Amino acid sequence: MNGASRFIVRPGRRFGGVAIVPGDKSISHRALLLGAIANGLTEINGFLASEDCRATLAALRAMGAAIDEQAPDRLSVSGLGPNGLQRPPGPLDLGNSGTAMRLLIGLMAGQDFSTELTGDESLCRRPMERVAAPLREMGAEIDTTNGKPPVCIKGKTKLSGIDYRLPLASAQVKSAVLLAALYAQGQTRVIEPAVTRDHTERMLPAFGVPVTHGERTAAIDGPARLTGARIDVPGDLSSAAFLLGAAFLSERDPVTIERVGINPTRTGVLAVLGLMGAEIRTENHTTMGNEPVASLIGLPSALTGATIPPELVPLAIDEFPLIFALAACAKGETRVTGAAELRHKESDRIAVMIQALRKLGIDAEESADGARIAGGRPCGGTVDSHDDHRVAMALAVAGMMATAPVTILNVDNVATSFPGFVPAMQSLGLDLQYEPGSGK
Ligand code: S3P
Repeated sequence: MNGASRFIVRPGRRFGGVAIVPGDKSISHRALLLGAIANGLTEINGFLASEDCRATLAALRAMGAAIDEQAPDRLSVSGLGPNGLQRPPGPLDLGNSGTAMRLLIGLMAGQDFSTELTGDESLCRRPMERVAAPLREMGAEIDTTNGKPPVCIKGKTKLSGIDYRLPLASAQVKSAVLLAALYAQGQTRVIEPAVTRDHTERMLPAFGVPVTHGERTAAIDGPARLTGARIDVPGDLSSAAFLLGAAFLSERDPVTIERVGINPTRTGVLAVLGLMGAEIRTENHTTMGNEPVASLIGLPSALTGATIPPELVPLAIDEFPLIFALAACAKGETRVTGAAELRHKESDRIAVMIQALRKLGIDAEESADGARIAGGRPCGGTVDSHDDHRVAMALAVAGMMATAPVTILNVDNVATSFPGFVPAMQSLGLDLQYEPGSGK
């Protein structure tokens, strides 16, 4: 693997300062998708100009949407109305983005043309039947490839509203059904087994679509017409988490991250890390659109192992690579259960994280739906992120505490969610170096 891109982290616990993080990934995808099918102009400020969100942007452009980029994080979308998208010239390649693919499957189910959606090697290993099944119940015709991408969505089908009880906690599946519901006759209601991120439900009313939103339910009357909106995107808590994680390991100084989204369906990571002894404060509470926002302050903390309550898992689903990395640096044992979904993310995050931590000398083992990690001090060495952005960033944080430098391979996908991760961490004090790969 000599040609692989890599991070090299030299241990050190001087870390602290003030930072901002790029816009929220989930909100950025949704603002583009809803803007494209609204009537009139949608302005998006704080857009996450990452590879994942740009995959959604490119797909919408390929279907005729006019998206003007005034700055990388400031866009305006001239909405085409509900039936204005056009058949793209070929398959839409969504790169590494599961959110782009799953949300687009829902949106495409309502169009009067057929589409094929595909992606990179990792995305083509991820399950898509979970989205196709409820959409078929609504009347859509969808073919997956053995349950995975490429996915073909046949246009010109009539959709009807359904009552759908999700068999698993997934905001992507819920949102795909709600997007199709915008095109369906009658009411669509989704019922979740556990609360998941509710950005779609919060954003639709800004576009003029009423949503009846209970604790684990959301309902929409279709067909709906959307009116362009102004969406201000808060900083992404899932990116801020890496800065906070490093702050907890820091020797002396706090880290303040301004203007971060603290939607309660996303803050499971703060609760989990709180159980592990992390000291977190919030201040400057405000709202951006329909989303709560605050400055987050992470203080140097004495982290301890904890048994993570399974009900917190869906609320912290993207932060488990970091939670595993911090558990490896904490005093005592951490146990995670109820997290089998981690095996279906950009990589099998249970297997990949446990393999990396063991390589760094940590006593850790996987179970079918979680892991046990005995905290300690990682040793130096070379580990592989398996092209998973959050695994790469989490291992970079663990490198702070190692006894010797840690090299993390295959890190280019960090740009899918957190472009600017390296300079952000460097400016706060992490001794982190990026080396590009030498060809494929
Ligand atoms: C997302 C939902 C979650 C999360 C992903 C973004 C979203 O996935 O892991 O990064 O924007 O709806 P699942 O719906 O598969 O849980």
